[in-house]
Amino acid sequence: MAQIINGKLISQAIKDEVKQEVEALSGQGIMVTLAVVQVGNDPASTVYVNNKKKACEYTGIRSLSYTFPENAKQEELLSLIQELNSREDVNGILVQLPLPAHMDADSVIEAISPVKDVDGFHPQNVGALCIGKPGFVPCTPAGIIELLKRSGISIAGKECVVIGRSNIVGKPMALLLLRENGTVTIAHSRTEDLKTVAGRADILVAATGRAKMITSEYVKPGAAVIDVGMDRDENNKLCGDVDFDDVSRTAGAITPVPGGVGPMTIAMLMKNCLHAVRMQGKVDPARKKQEG
Ligand code: GUN
Repeated sequence: MAQIINGKLISQAIKDEVKQEVEALSGQGIMVTLAVVQVGNDPASTVYVNNKKKACEYTGIRSLSYTFPENAKQEELLSLIQELNSREDVNGILVQLPLPAHMDADSVIEAISPVKDVDGFHPQNVGALCIGKPGFVPCTPAGIIELLKRSGISIAGKECVVIGRSNIVGKPMALLLLRENGTVTIAHSRTEDLKTVAGRADILVAATGRAKMITSEYVKPGAAVIDVGMDRDENNKLCGDVDFDDVSRTAGAITPVPGGVGPMTIAMLMKNCLHAVRMQGKVDPARKKQEG
């Protein structure tokens, strides 16, 4: 039976670390603020947004909440982003995706100031990640790196296979594994003989969007299997892209759904808010040095 990687526990530890840092900043008179923007009332987005606000409350980060109706004009959203960009007291801006079809998500993402882009979706941050410069890293793949590290799973020199090539997960995941000196393959829906490719992985990240698609036939015995999926099975029960009951007999380590990658995304968002404060030069470096 595989080691179960407990994302709930690890994310809690990260949120506690953030809470401590937020308290320390507060002692220096620095407040951390995240603006959360939702357009429309997609039920899944509402759940995600509420969870992000709850995590802010827990860590002591101030959250500002903005909602637009489904039929809002893109200009209205852009004008709010401009205002938030210019506000000294706002450190992070998050626009929940997906946006309604009449809006152009790329233009909205590009309107967010790169130094407030706590999602790490702005092309400037994507480019920075690609060439190894400082910037914001997308929360889900950053959370997966933390899960691996805090579970004692080493990445350097390992065969890493990421199934999925989205801008939010697959591509940044591959870049982060590469940054950790993994040997990285990106596989996707057009990959030939996916079972063989996936079967080479010491670390397999599944972001296929297809419920329970990854069975033990795709998994090398002893591999670490990370499930990014959030799907529903034939009984409408929450499940991932990995067939957990089957794969947990073969894998060396595995993340459950729920309670694996999901909670890590939010914990890393909190960490990115702290990073924003530092990037914006709000922390006095002399004071930081003094405190060690
Ligand atoms: N929708 C699904 N995942 C995400 C995310 O990480 N950030 C934002 N802004 N929207 C999402």
